[in-house]
Amino acid sequence: MKFNVKTTKPESEKLDALVLGVFEGEKKLSADVAAIDKAMGGMIAEVVSGAEFTGKAGSHVLLPTMGKIGARRLLLLGMGKRASFKLDSLRQAAGRAAQLVRDYKFKTAGAPLADHAGAAFPARLHGQTLAEGILMALYDYGAYKTEREDAERPVFEAVTLFAPAAETAALKAGLADGERIAEAVALTRDLVSAPGSDMTPTILANRAKEMADKQGIKCQVLDEKAIDKLKMGALLGVARGAMEAQPPRFIVLEYLPVKGRKPLVFVGKGITFDSGGISIKPADGMDKMKYDMAGAGAVIGALKAIASLELPVNVVGLIPATENMPGGHAMHPGDILKTMSGKTIEVINTDAEGRLILADALSYAERYQPEVVLDLATLTGACVIALGNQAIGLMGNDQGLVDQILAAGERTWERAWQLPLWEEYSEQIKSDIADVKNGGGRPAGTITAAAMLAKFTGAYRWAHLDIAGTAWEDKGRAYVPKGATGIGVRLLVDLAREYAKGGKAMAAGTSAAASAASNGKVVPPAKPAAKVATGGTKISANGAKTGAKTSAKPAAKPASRKK
Ligand code: BES
Ligand code: MN
Ligand code: ZN
Repeated sequence: MKFNVKTTKPESEKLDALVLGVFEGEKKLSADVAAIDKAMGGMIAEVVSGAEFTGKAGSHVLLPTMGKIGARRLLLLGMGKRASFKLDSLRQAAGRAAQLVRDYKFKTAGAPLADHAGAAFPARLHGQTLAEGILMALYDYGAYKTEREDAERPVFEAVTLFAPAAETAALKAGLADGERIAEAVALTRDLVSAPGSDMTPTILANRAKEMADKQGIKCQVLDEKAIDKLKMGALLGVARGAMEAQPPRFIVLEYLPVKGRKPLVFVGKGITFDSGGISIKPADGMDKMKYDMAGAGAVIGALKAIASLELPVNVVGLIPATENMPGGHAMHPGDILKTMSGKTIEVINTDAEGRLILADALSYAERYQPEVVLDLATLTGACVIALGNQAIGLMGNDQGLVDQILAAGERTWERAWQLPLWEEYSEQIKSDIADVKNGGGRPAGTITAAAMLAKFTGAYRWAHLDIAGTAWEDKGRAYVPKGATGIGVRLLVDLAREYAKGGKAMAAGTSAAASAASNGKVVPPAKPAAKVATGGTKISANGAKTGAKTSAKPAAKPASRKK
């Protein structure tokens, strides 16, 4: 897609379609639309004053222009009520317009941004949001279709935006931002929508490496031997059922452009297919479990976007990747796994595998002395029951960080909702014979899963994002076609940007964990269970950069760690 920004009059441009946003119930035309209406002999005012087109969100009218203006067609797009119009309404409108333009088989479209509907946002953000909406809406997972009814369809190839001269530079920069972000979302969607047999741990690692090479960032892939050497017994336990056919991988992505600042660590659940293992899932709907690496996909996409935007922030991506399969060597319900942290987990249900592989990844994260650790995982069916497809389930050990994520969710419209991670929930995951068990029964299933993860977090601020309900779209909606949604990419990019700006809640010194880590010390665990085998400043076996190289100046003031 080519984006043009022009300062000329929209009515003089040769286009297949000129798109005009119309707010619901507003009959008075804005100045730029009035000029076009004049050239059209009053046709727009006539349509807008009628009852058949009210400007309701989701509605549109296509009008021929009879050669009166440069564009062949006018597309009046309902924007909904001005009072409730927000940034995501603009993203949705852009997405709807793009799909209409595509479906009407137009090649070129334009829209004035001077003072008509939606021009209420700063130009750079406006540009980013338009590009996101358009490109995410036009995304098509076409990898496996060999016969398509729309094969002959002309390709929507160019968008021209008309804006005042003072805004063109910012608008162009925003469009470029949006293009990079949308490309990253597309990569994530590609990875997550791919069938399990074509997105094995090895293939996922190769795709991560390919992305890293293109972006000039570091990628290390640990194989089953290296994983064993690290004593990641929980990851290996889950991997056992598929070991011979599809061995696990542990993927490490490092984007560390800033000296002397601690990294954000993003951990993504990378179950490339979740059959449930010996505690096998019912056949109905099992096919969807190819999406069980959506957390991993989001982390790979986020790293791609952050690197291509060249954000001045250090970010590490960690992805434990394996299948969860039954088999002669598979772990059994009742087995006990020894994790990298040294702690033991009783496997009540082999289908609660996500928390097992994440436990080891959360231990590995400690070596970076992270500013914060965020894990993203399609972790629980209970999250889908609790929040449906609208919100990410969010929990953490630091309210400042949780608030920051909630705010980023509102900005990006990848919204999250906090659930209580109270100590009392840990009662449900007490094991009689191991340190913890991997199932807490049906009540509060999303919280007890997070409670188990919390037993493996180190001396860092941490948040867990359960994306089970939000990573897949069954029906298709504005800018989110059916299939993998790419959730998490825009949220993580927004957070990284905030951190790059020195966002308050993410700055060093807001918790004891952060301040002590920045002094090169290992923080005494808040809970007796939180000791981690690796950590501190030692160089990792695989040569990964350690906290020592990236640790920051001493933090301003210590504060108590909220947990
Ligand atoms: N990947 C699933 C989570 C999931 C299940 C997402 C259904 C979407 C729909 C996860 O590995 C899982 O199977 N979790 C179990 C945990 C239970 C056995 C404690 C679940 O949620 O049923
Ligand atoms: Mn499972
Ligand atoms: Zn799973």
